[in-house]
Amino acid sequence: MLQLSKVGPRSYSGDLLVYLARQPGKGSPRCGAGPVDEAVRRVHALGDFSGKEGEHLLLYPEKGKQGAPVAKRILVVGLGKEELNRELFRKAGGTIASLAMKSKARELLLVVPDLACDMLEMVEGLSEGIVLGTYRFKKYKTKKDPDASGEVLRQAALYAADGKGVAKALKLGEIAAQAACKARDMANEPANYWGPGNFSEYGRQLAVAHGMTCTVLDQPRMKKLGMGGILGVNQGSARSPEMVILEYAVKPSAPTLLLVGKGLTFDSGGISLKPSAGMEEMKYDMCGGAAVLCAMQAVAQAKLKGVNLVAIVPATENLPGPAALKPGDVITQYGGKTVEVVNTDAEGRLILADALAYGIKKYKPDMVIDVATLTGAVIVGLGHHRTGLLSNDDTLCDQLLAAGARSGEPLWRLPLDSEYTKHLKSEIADLRNVGKRDGGTITAAAFLKEFVGKTPWAHLDIAGTAWDFTEKSYIPKGPSGIAVRTLFDFVRNWRG
Ligand code: BES
Ligand code: ZN
Ligand code: ZN
Repeated sequence: MLQLSKVGPRSYSGDLLVYLARQPGKGSPRCGAGPVDEAVRRVHALGDFSGKEGEHLLLYPEKGKQGAPVAKRILVVGLGKEELNRELFRKAGGTIASLAMKSKARELLLVVPDLACDMLEMVEGLSEGIVLGTYRFKKYKTKKDPDASGEVLRQAALYAADGKGVAKALKLGEIAAQAACKARDMANEPANYWGPGNFSEYGRQLAVAHGMTCTVLDQPRMKKLGMGGILGVNQGSARSPEMVILEYAVKPSAPTLLLVGKGLTFDSGGISLKPSAGMEEMKYDMCGGAAVLCAMQAVAQAKLKGVNLVAIVPATENLPGPAALKPGDVITQYGGKTVEVVNTDAEGRLILADALAYGIKKYKPDMVIDVATLTGAVIVGLGHHRTGLLSNDDTLCDQLLAAGARSGEPLWRLPLDSEYTKHLKSEIADLRNVGKRDGGTITAAAFLKEFVGKTPWAHLDIAGTAWDFTEKSYIPKGPSGIAVRTLFDFVRNWRG
């Protein structure tokens, strides 16, 4: 969708020409193009445009001198006067995308400004913002929405002074954003169209497209391996469980990162049934699985070199069918630990425990990150702006916190002292699957911790951020695609 343009703004006669302008201390904002600056000056004098962040100005120019062709529309987007960073450019990209789509532009040319900042950060941010901001999910609409007057934006070209690495920055931004959009697509799919089998299918497709290895463990195989967690959770569902494993190998001497994502394609709560109000949102309970598969897609597409990756998505529904797990049942997880299932709605940790224990035993990773919509409690604690981070390793945490900050997906670390594990004591089994109500996000992580041993591990609880994430120009209502770009950034910046 994105490309670098050789055509400059002077000879561009397409749908939409876009400039970015800083808000000056005094006087009118400038784009560095004479006739446009003149128009901006007039509008600024009226008090209608000052270049504040998020402000914009849309112009419809007449033909140029001697009837020379000009762009059909000109858009000037304000950048404000605060610090220039990737998030600011991402937001500007999102604003450009949404305004382009509100007008009838099918393509645009964005003039990358000459500013005192890192050019590559700027290009990458803009490129991410444009792609993320263009996202719509219309698959199940049979009629055109009369309010959405715009056509689809098909192409955006950036015109930049020829800098080293600009084309690569543009591409990396696009790869990351397209992967996040794919995760949004998976989440938007209703649970009758997106089940465990769809995760396997996508894993296989990715493997073929990018030379990765995909293995899918089916139910008989899980039985042989003793994966009582995912098998137990699956008991009430008519669809079989699948455990999708995708491997991206660079070189044996590089460290191996294991990613595990919760792929619960619908969580009714099981016999501990959830209330019906809002239950439809539980089709999003697979966003962790979507995030890890799509992060793999981005890494493979960008051909990143430093880290071997293994992604595991345990996928099943949690439904109260006649064979469903009952409160009080005891299951045996992969590796032999027994768990008293006191609440069948605390199912995420059961499927993750099998995947974590199996992944660590089989692939001996140097570090593990799991991503899951695990607890309602993380929403009570952190709201919808920060993902909960819990870990047994400070270095891994610091690197994830930095990756999240760079990606506009902030994390917040919660404690995980061994005291919390005491809440998981069972009278009849090794563990129970729920603690008390208090500290629910922490006791959930404490449960997972029992299955990772000494391997450096971090758990991202994305229940608050996988959908209803802080709305921004490039974050729509509904699923956000959270954690895809953070994981991609983490791998890119990994220094072992
Ligand atoms: N999928 C839910 C967590 C969730 C809740 C995600 C709300 C997004 C929004 C998870 O499986 C669950 O039901 N957790 C329970 C755990 C409890 C029974 C200990 C919860 O958070 O209420
Ligand atoms: Zn649940
Ligand atoms: Zn769940």
